[in-house]
Amino acid sequence: MAAEQTSKPSKAYPMKGGDSVDSYSNNSSYQRGVIDAAKELIIESAAKKLDTTNFVSSTTFRIADLGCSTGPNTFFAVQNIIEAVRLKYECQELHSQLPEFQVFFNDHVSNDFNTLFASLPPDRRYYAAAVAGSFYSRLFPNASLHFVHASYAIHWLSEVPKPVVDKTSPAWNKGRIYYSNSKDEVVKAYETQFAEDMECFLQARAKELVTGGLIALVFSGRRNGTLHSQTTQSMTSSLLESCLLDMVRTGKIKEEEVDSFNLPAYHMSPEELEAAVDGNGCFSIERMEELPLIAMGELGSLPKAQIMTSSLRATTEGLIKAHFGEAILNDFFNSVRKKLDEQVSFTEFESQTNFFALLKHKATD
Ligand SMILES: C[S@@+](CC[C@H](N)C(=O)[O-])C[C@H]1O[C@@H](n2cnc3c(N)ncnc32)[C@H](O)[C@@H]1O
Repeated sequence: MAAEQTSKPSKAYPMKGGDSVDSYSNNSSYQRGVIDAAKELIIESAAKKLDTTNFVSSTTFRIADLGCSTGPNTFFAVQNIIEAVRLKYECQELHSQLPEFQVFFNDHVSNDFNTLFASLPPDRRYYAAAVAGSFYSRLFPNASLHFVHASYAIHWLSEVPKPVVDKTSPAWNKGRIYYSNSKDEVVKAYETQFAEDMECFLQARAKELVTGGLIALVFSGRRNGTLHSQTTQSMTSSLLESCLLDMVRTGKIKEEEVDSFNLPAYHMSPEELEAAVDGNGCFSIERMEELPLIAMGELGSLPKAQIMTSSLRATTEGLIKAHFGEAILNDFFNSVRKKLDEQVSFTEFESQTNFFALLKHKATD
């Protein structure tokens, strides 16, 4: 049977590849901290919610890490899942039926898969494969996956909502690069894009997961009832925005370039995820909770401003370069660093909220 064509156009914003000092691999200890914070929840989830009796006929347990980037975080995440599944089989005295593991590392085509595969843990006990493409589209055959994981990836939208870059639209986001401090029409356009994308994500996974299969989502989001303007993500985007506007004032970039630049990210609340899952109807939410906050002190001994600038550069350099060109990169990130150096306290930045959600694929009639 031919593969189902559910290809949703999706723009790619890969993290900085390679293993240089500026790379994502070397500047993602914050995201690693979040994966560590979710480890116990993954183990408990497998113990309580993985229905191995459904899978015993399968000799291969298939895991997909969506939005894996270049590593090494994805390897820790995958290891946590495999450990959790092993423990579950052992507790049920099913050692002899322990399946082989196959892991699919997914990201956009332009992700640096070479760096990822060159650094696969040599002692891994799973078969590894790359699956390139957007997770807002179908990536796998019907009922072929048992466990899907995505960490720090689902806040990326498939694209910037079109109305926010349309000068004739009431949602045109002139002079701003994010929706959090913008007019209602802009917020609405981002909310609509998020809802459409999340439905595509759930629809695709509903086909790809076996009945009883699990999705663990670890995401950067906002608490229920928190205004978009009150989030840490809003502070961070305002910081980037102010550096770009400074560059307009000094003539390094044009005003129109900032008017047409927007961050393709949306930070959902647990309630919004619930609404998306209810609307889709193929999954139950088995668990949803906020993860402990990550203090920057846990991320190494370098100055906080440096850690934060390097992390922002590893995640946003590709976007900035694609829109404004390579020439501004050093000036831009130097000015981000300078503004961060002037911060008296990083308390607000350290209150960024992250969530864990576990979804289970319901039986279809
Ligand atoms: C911040 S990185 C997270 C990487 C890793 N999961 C971690 O926790 O360190 C987000 C990754 O999601 C990927 N991504 C964003 N949107 C995607 C999409 N629609 N399909 C596949 N990957 C996507 C990006 O390319 C990027 O590599």
